[in-house]
Amino acid sequence: EERAGQARFDEIIAKDSRIEPRDWMPEGYRKTLTRQISQHAHSEIIGMQPEANWITRAPSLKRKAILMAKVQDEAGHGLYLYSAAETLGTPRDELNDQLLSGRAKYSSIFNYPARTWADMGAIGWLVDGAAIANQVPLCRASYGPYGRAMVRVCKEESFHQRQGFEILLELANGTAEQKQMAQDAVNRFYEPSLMMFGPPDGDSPNSQQSMAWNIKRFTNDDLRQRFVGMIVEQVKVLGLTLPDPELRFDETAGQWIHKELNWDEFKAVISGHGPCNAQRLARRREAHENGAWVREAAAAYAARQTEKVA
Ligand code: 3HC
Repeated sequence: EERAGQARFDEIIAKDSRIEPRDWMPEGYRKTLTRQISQHAHSEIIGMQPEANWITRAPSLKRKAILMAKVQDEAGHGLYLYSAAETLGTPRDELNDQLLSGRAKYSSIFNYPARTWADMGAIGWLVDGAAIANQVPLCRASYGPYGRAMVRVCKEESFHQRQGFEILLELANGTAEQKQMAQDAVNRFYEPSLMMFGPPDGDSPNSQQSMAWNIKRFTNDDLRQRFVGMIVEQVKVLGLTLPDPELRFDETAGQWIHKELNWDEFKAVISGHGPCNAQRLARRREAHENGAWVREAAAAYAARQTEKVA
């Protein structure tokens, strides 16, 4: 059974087709997808916090409504991705416990503070822009539920990026103080958004296997430099600059060369010691406790329905 299963799995991967929940799969495939999809879901849920702080401080009703819509989208992306992760056999409560106990990772970028309104622009333009660059190839991930979830997520993510770009454009064309506020936000979010793509290829233990299984389609560095190539053009339209004097296009390598990133900071952030890790988890734990009564009521209601049917 195992040998036949492995042969079928290898054939599906070789044909670049889809593995579905009921197909036989190697335990390592199941494990790495549960890891990546659940951490992706955690990122969406924690990612609501920096923006939530600015919903009540938005400068206009229009901006408040747009930001609220974006945060609601992220909640939906999180729940969508937990559903995809559950098809691999780990219940959602267990995935949630992994986050609340600090055992699971979530995207490094959300451990940085959102200090000004311009940060809402930098997060939309750079963070959601990086998320799109990373998520478009994931639409073709070999695991069906993940690839299909990404198609829906990417459609909403492009609205997130555009509204962020528009916030920065408005500020950059405003008063000198507003332009400086926008430049300051870009300066603070540039490097952390490049680190979202993961460690350098030589320091990425999961990449090789993920690429062999058609989960990851491009290496961390490939996607990172592709993203740089996009924002280099967009930042000109904003009339702002990227805080990277070393940035240049290497004709021979056909790649963008950016400044050396602070990988010590990255390692500290993903092991729980970033600027906001403690408060992000504390906030998540508090929200989880506050929601206990809803889960209990829903479970009691569901139990009553089953009794009726029995
Ligand atoms: N933040 C936190 N941890 C990270 C990370 C980051 N930016 N980049 C890498 N890591 C972790 C990996 O999870 C891995 O640790 P683990 O084995 O304990 O999980 C370790 O660092 C080594 O990295 P690898 O490159 O070997 O790991 P992967 O092959 O998994 O690549 C990845 C990392 C590119 C982030 C990949 O996991 C991925 O594509 N994940 C899905 C995308 C995702 O999570 N996006 C979140 C973006 S934010 C978002 O979507 C919200 C949006 O609305 C803004």
